[in-house]
Amino acid sequence: MSSLAEAPIHDPGFDSEEAHKRKQYMVDLFVVQAKNYDFHDDVFGLYAHRFRMRTVLKIMGRFLKDRKHVDMLDLACGTGFVTFNTARNFDNVDIEAFDISPDMLAVAKERYEKYFKGRNIKFWRGDAEVPFGEEKYDLVTTSFAYRNFANKGIATENVFNALKPGGLFIIQDLTKPERHPMRGLYIFYMKYILPVLTGILGTEKSAARWLYKSAMMMPTNGQIVKLMESKGFEKCQYKSLSLGIACVIWGFKPEKSE
Ligand SMILES: C[S@@+](CC[C@H](N)C(=O)[O-])C[C@H]1O[C@@H](n2cnc3c(N)ncnc32)[C@H](O)[C@@H]1O
Repeated sequence: MSSLAEAPIHDPGFDSEEAHKRKQYMVDLFVVQAKNYDFHDDVFGLYAHRFRMRTVLKIMGRFLKDRKHVDMLDLACGTGFVTFNTARNFDNVDIEAFDISPDMLAVAKERYEKYFKGRNIKFWRGDAEVPFGEEKYDLVTTSFAYRNFANKGIATENVFNALKPGGLFIIQDLTKPERHPMRGLYIFYMKYILPVLTGILGTEKSAARWLYKSAMMMPTNGQIVKLMESKGFEKCQYKSLSLGIACVIWGFKPEKSE
């Protein structure tokens, strides 16, 4: 069944003008946003992302349960929301985390120095569309960022290559509800309420527009599962959260066959 919200996944290509523009916009947007990012996220998201994180931690927990040690990558880590939540909840995880925005990374590093020194967490600047290793990680997460990648196919393939056999990839993001009336209410909130809130809080003006546009352009959960499978992932599943405005999608790199 083709759903209300379905739109073809469009990968413009690594060197396309669209991809370059998108990345530059990310860097520019978060210059202004970085310092207040977490506070604004709480206000706009009505704290919901903190509840949604519990779903991600549950999926991680099942995966980590029988493992002594896990190497994790938090892809597009921003200010480290998932990085630090993971560190707080699991002590058998060493974490690498990267982001394209130097300003978001600066906040993450500051937080690390203040609260997490002693944990094995490394931050660096990087692009999800540039390969970041071969069979290095047991677990890769990307949270509220997949929507922003211009070339989702390239980023997904990079994750597949960077995972060890048997490794787990978890995507958490905003999306758009696929059915009315929630879809109508959501569009109303994003189009008319959010710009007012961002105005009051002094958020970068284009942020509300981008949030709306990127959520609308987000492929459906089913389409993302198909994309993951086309890159080699197996046992892919998804869960709609917060009445369909967010999703968690996950899948595994197959174990090596003998
Ligand atoms: C909405 S923030 C989410 C940050 C964090 N993961 C969280 O859950 O709070 C999106 C992040 O994706 C990053 N990003 C966007 N495109 C990227 C890319 N191509 N490579 C790496 N990071 C990217 C942005 O710089 C930004 O920090």
